[in-house]
Amino acid sequence: MSRIVVVTGAAQGIGFAIAKAFVANGDFVAVGDLNFEAAEAAASILGNAKGYKLDVTNEDSVVEFYKNLLSDKGTVDVVVNNAGLQFISSVEDFPIEKWNLLINVMLTGPFLMSKHALPEMKKKKWGRIIHISSAHGKMPDAYKSAYCAAKYGILGLSAVTALETAKDGITVNSVLPGPVRTDLIEKQLPKLAERDGSTVEEAMNHHILGKQWMKRLLEPEEIADSIVFLASDKAAAITGEELMVTGGM
Ligand SMILES: NC(=O)c1ccc[n+]([C@@H]2O[C@H](COP(=O)([O-])OP(=O)(O)OC[C@H]3O[C@@H](n4cnc5c(N)ncnc54)[C@H](O)[C@@H]3O)[C@@H](O)[C@H]2O)c1
Repeated sequence: MSRIVVVTGAAQGIGFAIAKAFVANGDFVAVGDLNFEAAEAAASILGNAKGYKLDVTNEDSVVEFYKNLLSDKGTVDVVVNNAGLQFISSVEDFPIEKWNLLINVMLTGPFLMSKHALPEMKKKKWGRIIHISSAHGKMPDAYKSAYCAAKYGILGLSAVTALETAKDGITVNSVLPGPVRTDLIEKQLPKLAERDGSTVEEAMNHHILGKQWMKRLLEPEEIADSIVFLASDKAAAITGEELMVTGGM
């Protein structure tokens, strides 16, 4: 059965791999991203997909996004809240604008994307919401206070939404990836090294791979299939859960 799947932040990285896995599964994917040009480029590579301009932090943008999707495709079956970003700073130096941005993208965004998808899902008594948290939703790392606050917080949003919709044919779960080879990791390494007064290799071992058992960055594709599974009918009894896909931690 072909479903209408929304993946936020799917222009690149883990989101793109998730979108690719859904398209391979026979589904249509709405690539919703702040970077519209990249979303359109990603959609043209994916095939059964379309790029949409979406700022998950802005309720008007979220409402407009669903209006356009419903007019194009008539419904929404699956929402994957993946858009994210990192900012590295100690708590005492953390700029309030950056704090608000990270919380807005990775906590308020998933709330808004869920809020405006649920009426459609409830109408047809079927829906799947999957939040991309992080291993940092369970364990802290220095200089990532806003990121960890959002990733811990989303587990609460996920559980409450799962509870509220449990009798409506809707499941809501969180996936917690370990370190994955994307821009988000590559960009933070020099900043972590600068903070620690270490080399980039030392920062990689201390902050990223030190606690992980496999001692390697995961590939985005290694995260994607667990999400396609959680969105399937085979996962109908799984709700309010937190699935770690970390390479061991
Ligand atoms: N890379 C990792 O190691 C890792 C580990 C655990 C969890 N995660 C999580 O996985 C998700 C994807 O991360 P990634 O590494 O692929 O990041 P990435 O930086 O490669 O991609 C993030 C995407 O989100 C989009 N985006 C940012 N703000 C947005 C907004 N306001 N509205 C819509 N789109 C927006 C960006 O344009 C970009 O396309 C994030 O939530 C991240 O926290 C990543």
